[in-house]
Amino acid sequence: MKVLITGSSGMIGTNLALRLMQDGHTVLGVDYRNNPWTDCIPFRTIDLRKDCIGRLVELIKGFEIDIVVHLAAHAKVYELVVEPSRALENVVITFKVVESARLAGVPIIFGSSREVYGDIHRHVTNEGCADFVVAESPYSASKISGEAFIYSFAQCYGLPYIVFRFSNVYGRYDNDLERMERVTPLFIRKIAQGDPIVIFGKEKVLDFTYIDDCIEGIYSGIRELTSGRVKNQTINLAYGEGNSLDQLVTFIAEALGVEPQVSYRASQPGEVTRYVADVTKARELLGYHPQTPLSEGIKKAVQWQKEAGYLA
Ligand SMILES: NC(=O)c1ccc[n+]([C@@H]2O[C@H](COP(=O)([O-])OP(=O)(O)OC[C@H]3O[C@@H](n4cnc5c(N)ncnc54)[C@H](O)[C@@H]3O)[C@@H](O)[C@H]2O)c1
Repeated sequence: MKVLITGSSGMIGTNLALRLMQDGHTVLGVDYRNNPWTDCIPFRTIDLRKDCIGRLVELIKGFEIDIVVHLAAHAKVYELVVEPSRALENVVITFKVVESARLAGVPIIFGSSREVYGDIHRHVTNEGCADFVVAESPYSASKISGEAFIYSFAQCYGLPYIVFRFSNVYGRYDNDLERMERVTPLFIRKIAQGDPIVIFGKEKVLDFTYIDDCIEGIYSGIRELTSGRVKNQTINLAYGEGNSLDQLVTFIAEALGVEPQVSYRASQPGEVTRYVADVTKARELLGYHPQTPLSEGIKKAVQWQKEAGYLA
């Protein structure tokens, strides 16, 4: 298979590209910056905010790409609260990628987010719960808009799609904290260094997804969508269990064998404070069986950082 991945220098893009290449598939990445972890992924430097549709269509056709996986975005919720124009850039980027897929005649997978559900405190959230009058942040608005473009292109032009709603993916190739702070690798680094950490939102309960589970889900989606067995579906991809940030810190401290210094502040504006995914649909449509609970995933994440030389 030949897969074009936008955002191939990012966390999920890097893991997906390496996994596909390991199985002998051809990957062509697109990103506007170099990959901070590996030179193995072939990619083109393209800023998707700019005039790029012609170039993308040419690449898709020239490389006989079978499917586009669109992951490029400004992906940090709070940064987009501070700078909302970047949410609009997300919309522009997604439009250009979706339009390119349409013009080139290939199906698309879109990396959306649990943020589209807003901060609604349910026990578990299934895909039918999305109520698009609720938008918790400019980032949520950008993902809702991206999904809406996908649905409208399926409706008007027959563009086949799968939308995946991810949730707190962690575990490997996620520690470029100078570019983007993510809670799990940030806490791992700080706790390992003996630095104090601040938990924004003691009450938060979130669904943490170990990277290999996420990648297996996307990989199944690629197989099912390209074969035509599954199409035009929106699917939660997470572990399906809630954990508090306190629990996350406890697992990290145990894995590192140190005592953490923790203080608490209120959640930041725009943040979802409770989300546990119902992953029944992923299980039924894609045979998705997430393998790694947070307690195990954190051990693997710490191990990866140690082996890669990121932790003393
Ligand atoms: N990681 C998660 O927990 C999570 C959760 C929910 C949704 N998502 C979504 O999944 C996707 C992938 O997430 P990630 O964690 O790998 O994010 P990431 O930030 O690591 O990767 C995104 C990549 O997009 C690239 N990019 C941004 N703007 C670009 C532009 N104008 N042109 C070309 N490339 C551009 C960035 O350089 C980056 O490499 C994102 O769309 C994100 O919103 C991720």
